[in-house]
This record gives sequence, C-alpha cells and structure tokens, in this order.
Amino acid sequence: MPFRPSHSLLDCELLNLASAFCQLQLPFFFIPLVEMASTTLICDTQPWKDLKAHTEDIKKTHLRDLMNDKERCESMMVEFDGMFLDYSRQCATLETIDKLYKLAEAASLKQQINRMYSGEHINSTENRSVLHVALRAPRDAVINSDGKNVVPDVWNVLDKIKDFSEKVRNGSWVGATGKPLKDVIAIGIGGSFLGPLFVHAALQTDPEAVEFAKGRQLRFLANVDPIDVARNIAGLNPETTLVVVVSKTFTTAETMLNARTLREWISSALGPSAVAKHMVAVSTNLTLVEKFGIDPNNAFAFWDWVGGRYSVCSAVGVLPLSLQYGFSIVEKFLKGASSIDEHFRSAPFEKNIPVLLGLLSVWNVSFLGYPARAILPYSQALEKFAPHIQQVSMESNGKGVSIDGVPLPYEAGEIDFGEPGTNGQHSFYQLIHQGRVIPCDFIGIVKSQQPVYLKGEVVSNHDELMSNFFAQPDALAYGKTAEQLLKENVSQHLIPHKTFSGNRPSLSLLLPSLNAYNIGQLLASYEHRVTVEGFVWGINSFDQWGVELGKSLATQVRKQLNASRTKSEPVEGFNFSTTTLLTRYLQ
Ligand code: F6P
Repeated sequence: MPFRPSHSLLDCELLNLASAFCQLQLPFFFIPLVEMASTTLICDTQPWKDLKAHTEDIKKTHLRDLMNDKERCESMMVEFDGMFLDYSRQCATLETIDKLYKLAEAASLKQQINRMYSGEHINSTENRSVLHVALRAPRDAVINSDGKNVVPDVWNVLDKIKDFSEKVRNGSWVGATGKPLKDVIAIGIGGSFLGPLFVHAALQTDPEAVEFAKGRQLRFLANVDPIDVARNIAGLNPETTLVVVVSKTFTTAETMLNARTLREWISSALGPSAVAKHMVAVSTNLTLVEKFGIDPNNAFAFWDWVGGRYSVCSAVGVLPLSLQYGFSIVEKFLKGASSIDEHFRSAPFEKNIPVLLGLLSVWNVSFLGYPARAILPYSQALEKFAPHIQQVSMESNGKGVSIDGVPLPYEAGEIDFGEPGTNGQHSFYQLIHQGRVIPCDFIGIVKSQQPVYLKGEVVSNHDELMSNFFAQPDALAYGKTAEQLLKENVSQHLIPHKTFSGNRPSLSLLLPSLNAYNIGQLLASYEHRVTVEGFVWGINSFDQWGVELGKSLATQVRKQLNASRTKSEPVEGFNFSTTTLLTRYLQ
C-alpha cells in the first residue's frame, strides 16, 4: 500500500517523519495507515506550529538585551517552599512562555498529571500505574491504584524499616557472632543504586545526618566488575557487615551475581546459617528473594507501580539510608519530596517549578534544537545528582515512538550530564562558553553546611564558591564582544579567540540549605520535570524497552563463554567482529 499521509499527519514535517521511519528501518508502506490516522502528535497542533514560527523571532534576540527588561526578568522568577527558580536567562520572552503554556494545554498536561495521581495505568506498555508520589505521601493520604488505597501499604513498609533500622543501629539486631552490624553494603544497579547513592552523598556532610551516622559506613556495590566487589569489601569484616540486596525484579544479572558473591563471602567466613542475620533484601519479587535464601521476614517490599529510576523514596533508598542515618532523617527527605509533589499537583503552571522546568526543556530541545543539558550544582555534596538525573531523564525520555507506538517526527529526550562547580569549570565549561550551546542548570545553596571562615578574610570559602555560581550564568548570557576586547587593548589576532558570543541559556535554582528536606525537594522537582517533558512529547516516560536488547545479547555471549570454557566449544553464531574479539578474549 503506498504511503499517504493521514489527516492528522498532514501538517507534520514529512521530512522528519521519513527520517524517523528510516531510523526504525521500516519502509513507509509498512506503517499501517489506520493506526497512524488515529493518533495526533503534538507537532500537529497549532501551539507547536506557533512555537516553531516563534523561534525565528527569538533568533533575532540576544540575552544581553532580554536581561535589560526588568519586568520580564521579574516574571521569570518563582519561589516555592524556600526553593527559588530564576529562568530569566533562558532564550525566551514572555510571549514564548505564554506559547509554552498553550503547548501544555494542547498536550493536556494538567489532565495527564491528574491521571498519574489518580493511579491510571499511564505506563501503558507495562499496564501499570505510576505512583512514586505515594511513596512520600502523608500517612492519612488516599492514593488509589486499581481501586486500592496504596498509602497504608507504603507506611507498613516504612514502619517495618524504622523498626528494623533502629534494631540494627542500637545493636539489638546483631550478626551471627553477636557483634553489632555497623557497616552496610547495598547491592543494586541503575534505579536500585543511583538515587540512594545521590542522597547518601548529599547527606554525608549535613551536620545532623553526620551526627546520626557516627561509627557507621554505607557502601554501594553496583558494577558486576569484580573490582567493585573488591573495593566494597576492602577493610570490612563479614562479622560486622549487613548486606542489603536491592532489586525490583530480583533477576538483574549484575545484582544477582554480586549478591551470590557476597553470600559466599559471608558464608565462607561465618557459615551458611549466618546469611539469615547478614543479608536482607528490597524487592517487588518476594518469591525470588526467598528462593535466593533470604528470609522473607527480612525482605522489604515495594510495588510494580514504582518505576526503578523513581524508586529512591521506596525501601530501595529508605532502608539503606535509614540504616546509615536513622529513619528520622530519611523521613525529612520524604517530606521535602512530598511538598513538591503537592506543589506539582496543584500549583498553576506559571508558579509550578517542575512544570516550568519541563516546558523550558521542551523549548530548548524541540524548538531551539539544543539536545543536551548540563546539571551544575555548586555543591560538592551534590556530586552524584547529575548521574542520578541522567538515568531518570535519559531512561525515561530516550524514546523514538509516541505512547501509541507512532515513530516520532521530532527528537524526544535530552542528553544530561554534569559535575559540581567549580570542578566542571576547569573541565568542560570551555565548550559551553565558546563551543556548542548547552542549556545549563545552575544549582546553588545559600547556607553552607560546613562553612569555613579564614582568619583575616571576609569572604568565606562558601562565598568564593557562590561567586562562581553567580558569575557563570552571566558569562554565558552576555558573553564578551570584540568591542569590549578592543577597549581592553587585546591584540587584534587574539580577538576572535577571546570573543564570547553569549546568548547561551541557563537557569538558576537556589536552595536555602542542603538538608534532608531540601534534597527531597530537589529530587522530586527533577523527577516531575522529566514527567512533564514526556507528557508534552507524548511518549511513555515510564518504560525502558531500550535496555533489553543488550541484556539478551549478553546472555548469548555468557552461554558461549560457558560452552567454550567447559567444553572447549569454538565461538559460533556471532558476526566476524564479535567472533574475533571473543576468540581473542578466550585465548
Ligand atoms: O537498566 C535497566 C533497569 O531495568 C533499570 O530500569 C532498573 O533501575 C535497573 O535495571 C535495575 O533493575 P532491578 O532493580 O530490577 O535490579
């Protein structure tokens, strides 16, 4: 059947559509006409087209001039519960923002947010609700999934974690030889690792959390690389170590191998019966937990309506963090996240921080054509924030088809990366200032947790850090012109090299402090931002089929390695390149 664009696709950019089909390697005539006709993509809507046309106006502006408009700048500042967002350094006018609200309306953003909170199965390819907001809801909240209020289940697990972590911390739960378990190794990967690691790193210097963590260690074993095992057990005594196996599915190859490795480490030192006292689990699959040899009473459940990368507020994060810092600190973290959940659900778009963040991302990616974003916290404690958000964002929105399975004629998702400032300044900022345009998120903290005031110096070490936080966005926005350089008597031949074009977008997010509560706020703001982007792009942000192919190919390789090692079977069934590499590896 020859391809004929359906009514809903008539206005979309056919060239882009063709390239999307090519990416999927589907000839045009293989795309069922009926299915395509039933779906309206966001790029077919008038607000999308208006924004496309509006980019021409924006190309004529420069942030240097936009920043002179005080009224515009004032309108681009929002505060909620101590968080302050300034997005005046976005390449956008008030008209742009207005058009973005219209786009949100066309995408039924409000309705989609409501569908999420009401437990509809918006993760349609896995037929699941998406309810990570229930993980931090107050005890008396009602959030339904499949007709059942899930909040009491959430609190049952939280109460169980509180009880267990207190027992471990106060020494009433001891190891097989009667010694207190002061060290914890949490085994898990991806969403069962990155979020808890980010929060742990962020809390490590919070004075209150530090006090509660005295004498204790928390380590994370993620990579299947045996070096990661060696690093994790270095200096630890199995007698005083508790291992927490964290896996939603309890089937992830890396995690299960690491779990078997540490089970052997414990049982060879203390005998197989020691596993009962030294290993606990967090999973949705309690049958497999038991099969592995962990007492189901020592398992902490979560549910299929929690996506792996959205699971840090479930037992995935709450258990290891409570063991390290005590439940009361973790409860503050949950409250911070919950405060943003309520804000996201109820605040009007013009005051809604996650909605604004999400819409601006869509603007930068889909209209201005900037595919990447740098996450730049001016806080060393947030060193693991960018890696965590990288998974939340890229695993959620790295999709090539709409939620209805139609190839996207526009790019969705963005490339997230980042490092704490000022370290990043001495690494990749050169490219951001004079090379490619990469929208930046600057995250700053008003009050340092560990201030240093040197004798005779008025500006504290934290002030020094924050001077950079305030300076960088202006350097990106204003740049430096040849005229300015001439006035500074810069030699002619250096002028092109020392010129900064400016007009590079960023936003600044200022938090009052970096305690558990604010960390929760930051996490939830970014989680919801990703959700907003996905809703507007019309994709399913809650599945991750793209990780499956590599996993199944690794299984084939594993089988081959086994056959070659045990029966000397030659490498077979792979292409020439992989056969050569595998043969070389086996030799
Ligand atoms: O990388 C794919 C993935 O499925 C992630 O989504 C998930 O967070 C991670 O693997 C770990 O999965 P599990 O918690 O089931 O071990």
